[in-house]
Amino acid sequence: MINDLNEIKLKVQEYLEQLSYFTATPEHGITRLPFSKEARQTVDYLKNIMKEIGLDVSEDNAGSVIGKFNSEEDNTPSIIIGSHYDSVKCGGNFDGIAGIICGLEVARKLKEKNIKLKYSLEVMGINDEEGVRFGTGFFGTKAMMGMITLDDLSKYKDENNISIYQAMKEYGLQPKKIVDMSRNTNTIKSFIEIHIEQGPILENNKKDIGVVEYIVGMQRYIISIFGRADHAGSTPMEMRSDAMETASKVIGNIGEWARSENNGTVATVGYIKSFPNAINIIPEKVEFSVDIRSKDSKSIKRVFDKISENIKMLCSEYGTKYAIESKLSELPAKLNDKLMEQISTICHEKGYKNQKIDSGAGHDSLVMSKHVNTAMVFVPSKGGRSHCMEEWTDYEDLAKVIDVIYKLVLDLNHQ
Ligand code: HGY
Ligand code: MN
Ligand code: MN
Repeated sequence: MINDLNEIKLKVQEYLEQLSYFTATPEHGITRLPFSKEARQTVDYLKNIMKEIGLDVSEDNAGSVIGKFNSEEDNTPSIIIGSHYDSVKCGGNFDGIAGIICGLEVARKLKEKNIKLKYSLEVMGINDEEGVRFGTGFFGTKAMMGMITLDDLSKYKDENNISIYQAMKEYGLQPKKIVDMSRNTNTIKSFIEIHIEQGPILENNKKDIGVVEYIVGMQRYIISIFGRADHAGSTPMEMRSDAMETASKVIGNIGEWARSENNGTVATVGYIKSFPNAINIIPEKVEFSVDIRSKDSKSIKRVFDKISENIKMLCSEYGTKYAIESKLSELPAKLNDKLMEQISTICHEKGYKNQKIDSGAGHDSLVMSKHVNTAMVFVPSKGGRSHCMEEWTDYEDLAKVIDVIYKLVLDLNHQ
């Protein structure tokens, strides 16, 4: 049992407040994109904490940072407590990073109590979970699981047309060796992720802890509609090939198609770009993102099929053309029953109100759960807000989840 949760709470607060300075948008939340200056500042700060705790520190070739507490026995697998240190644009100060700090506090407690581990503990700050810079997602975990090819590194580019390959090189990594970093899953006993809920359920139900059972599946696309640039004034309506008219009609339907699944399926158009983007020119090209999620993969397929059917019909009506690029496709995941059970039992023993919960957000655990025993725990988000600067979680709640996962790591070491 960790007796002084208040001391932990203050440490977590100190670290997260300091980390909040590592952002490209200091006036508007956290923007910490992969392979950026802010990413380097964050990784270096996490490395200092890891060294202060007495962990063995390393960085992998995907830009993730690892603090390892070695076991007393050779050749035993590791328990990994991991989450991502990258952020969305103008996001909050808890998404991902809070889970890493909590994992480091678990490691600190084990060190301070001089616990001898049977299984090594690795606390991982994982890179590029969000996929905001290159439009993909789960880069750090996919690279660790050997799912990233050299072709992927050149294919995916950011809004300045910089590929992942170039960004890795400039950051000091070795993109050519990306396939060599694939990790043998028998070196991992369990993957545990601590994360903010990013929704309203725990707060509304007055729970301290959410034990994640399912994580939704996700598919992400970039859709381009091609028309013809013409004069906005002198071109009669019947002569136009207006990319924006086609794009806006399909975008306007997407919400209804998600709602009509009646099972919590969601679909989002997060970004749209018009070319040449001028007030008096009919757009020759419109590019927009589509992010579809559901616990039921058939729902994702139905929504996507409706989108592509509608685009085909509109393009033949308006004389436009289209292209659809798939950027991400992840099946839904059910997390490990035994670990869920153990976490719920620990919460009960400690008097923390808890419930099973599904995740509408994607996480590194979505990838890891398809390879190793994975558990995920949520802490409440104030007002259910996230991916915005209003994102907030009480530090007391982070101290409670550290208390729970500390006990879980102890229990796993006695199995
Ligand atoms: O997009 C998501 O669900 C997560 O924040 N990566
Ligand atoms: Mn996020
Ligand atoms: Mn996250």
